[in-house]
Amino acid sequence: MPLDPNQTTIEPQTIDTHTIEQHRVRSARRDDLSALLRLENQFSTDRLNRRNFLYLLQRAHAEVFVVDGPQGLLAGDAVVLYRQGVSAARLYSLVVAPESTRLGIGRTLLAATETAAHARNKSGMVLEVREDNLGALALYQRVGYRIVRRIPNYYQDGAAGLRLTKSFDAPVARPVARPVAR
Ligand SMILES: CC(C)(COP(=O)(O)OP(=O)(O)OC[C@H]1O[C@@H](n2cnc3c(N)ncnc32)[C@H](O)[C@@H]1OP(=O)(O)O)[C@@H](O)C(=O)NCCC(=O)NCCS
Repeated sequence: MPLDPNQTTIEPQTIDTHTIEQHRVRSARRDDLSALLRLENQFSTDRLNRRNFLYLLQRAHAEVFVVDGPQGLLAGDAVVLYRQGVSAARLYSLVVAPESTRLGIGRTLLAATETAAHARNKSGMVLEVREDNLGALALYQRVGYRIVRRIPNYYQDGAAGLRLTKSFDAPVARPVARPVAR
């Protein structure tokens, strides 16, 4: 992804998804950087680095959401991108700490990104996932994402990607998460 040196600070928000899962999602802050990198470093492929996060945390066209874990660690994060003139938002990254999987955190973070995108008048969400990432695929399909395209050699190691989309207009697609002011 090209990095833009122009930086616009965004106001932190809280998205309270407590009503659908027992996990509270909040916007990431600059002081979450170390915990974000620590979380990201637990994954071997397609990791976001310090420079990526610094850029994303300060851009008006990106939002980073987190779920807090124990002892100042993060249990998961999700990054959503908005491009001017593009009707759909893009889920850029979604990770949950290995010890915190299958607790509903991924689904809650995903719902938070959809709520945020919906609030920005985006019509839906688009994302790419490795074809062999069956866990993530199961999650996305379970909450209404549909495969629209297979992209050969999409990843650095030559793995194919699948593009999935979800329209917020479909009844099933309405995010349930409820944004609240902090
Ligand atoms: C994929 C990932 C984000 C899922 O997060 P999670 O918090 O474990 O997901 P949830 O607990 O919210 O799962 C919700 C549902 O998705 C499906 N699901 C999630 N992980 C699954 C897996 N490994 N295998 C099969 N189904 C899975 C299930 O239907 C699950 O519901 P259930 O637990 O009641 O059966 C997490 O495993 C992860 O971070 N993986 C590594 C990074 C990654 O692949 N990110 C996605 C890149 S596009």
